[in-house]
Amino acid sequence: MKTYNLIYDDYLNEIETAIKRFADGLDCKPDILRESLLYSLQAGGKRLRPVLMLAVADVLSVPHDKVINFALALELIHTYSLIHDDLPEMDNDDYRRGRLSNHKVYGCGNAVLAGDGLLNTAYSILFDMCAQGKEQIAAAKFICNCAGVYGMIAGQSADLLHENDKDFNSETLEFIYKNKTSKLITAAVVTPSIICGGKNYSELKSFGYNLGYLFQLTDDILDVEGNFEQMGKSIGKDKDEGKYTSIAVYGLEESKLQADLLTSACCKILEGLDGDVGFLKELVETVKTRIN
Ligand code: IPE
Ligand code: IPE
Ligand code: MG
Ligand code: MG
Ligand code: MG
Repeated sequence: MKTYNLIYDDYLNEIETAIKRFADGLDCKPDILRESLLYSLQAGGKRLRPVLMLAVADVLSVPHDKVINFALALELIHTYSLIHDDLPEMDNDDYRRGRLSNHKVYGCGNAVLAGDGLLNTAYSILFDMCAQGKEQIAAAKFICNCAGVYGMIAGQSADLLHENDKDFNSETLEFIYKNKTSKLITAAVVTPSIICGGKNYSELKSFGYNLGYLFQLTDDILDVEGNFEQMGKSIGKDKDEGKYTSIAVYGLEESKLQADLLTSACCKILEGLDGDVGFLKELVETVKTRIN
């Protein structure tokens, strides 16, 4: 039987192939636009969201060729969100994916445009998929909602709004986590369900929400306890920037306990699905114990 790491690598190879195909076909001018966009896209990254999409597709017996373009579009959207997230007027981060942030290399104006370019080309891929049928239209719409003002953008807006708050409450934290992080992760796990007519739709939605929460929680823990080499981005920034994190609201120890509870909640939801969820369960454990 294949180990978790080998399965992850297989998914990763498929995604990297799709990204390479996209990069090879990207023929925009001026050169700096293409270069800056691919600088961040091809810097690596865990590709967690597309991996999740392929893994859920396998659980639901959806062929990969039905979801790979959605997975690609989602990774483009995620990468754009990181470029904008790092801008001086947002989180002001100098490093991303183990290299200088986009704006540190190309300047803020070009970094804004690289992000815009990734978002627009992602939507173009989604439009192309819509020609295939009503499930594809529904999946594209779901991804757009998760990325937009009812999703990631709303979370990022709240993240900025609540910088340097002195009073904390669980509702605000939940709004931020649920939107800035859980929505794109939910898009990843729900898309294969929409493509096959809605199998396990509500379970996967709830799985995406919980896993996204866990993922942001561990990101915030690693901002305290992680290290730069492994994370590929600066550490200790959340406190400096007055970010509204689980650590600020509950403290480190309570946050770790919550990570345990969320891990169990994710695994319990997975056990209610019909297919082989072994890989996904290991992925959840890996998110909890991750160092990058
Ligand atoms: C970083 O996402 C932003 C968060 C939601 C915490 P990832 O940790 O998935 O970043 P990459 O894609 O691996 O670089
Ligand atoms: C997630 O939060 C950001 C996005 C939705 C892009 P963070 O701001 O904590 O992510 P990192 O730590 O910069 O990767
Ligand atoms: Mg941020
Ligand atoms: Mg950030
Ligand atoms: Mg962070």
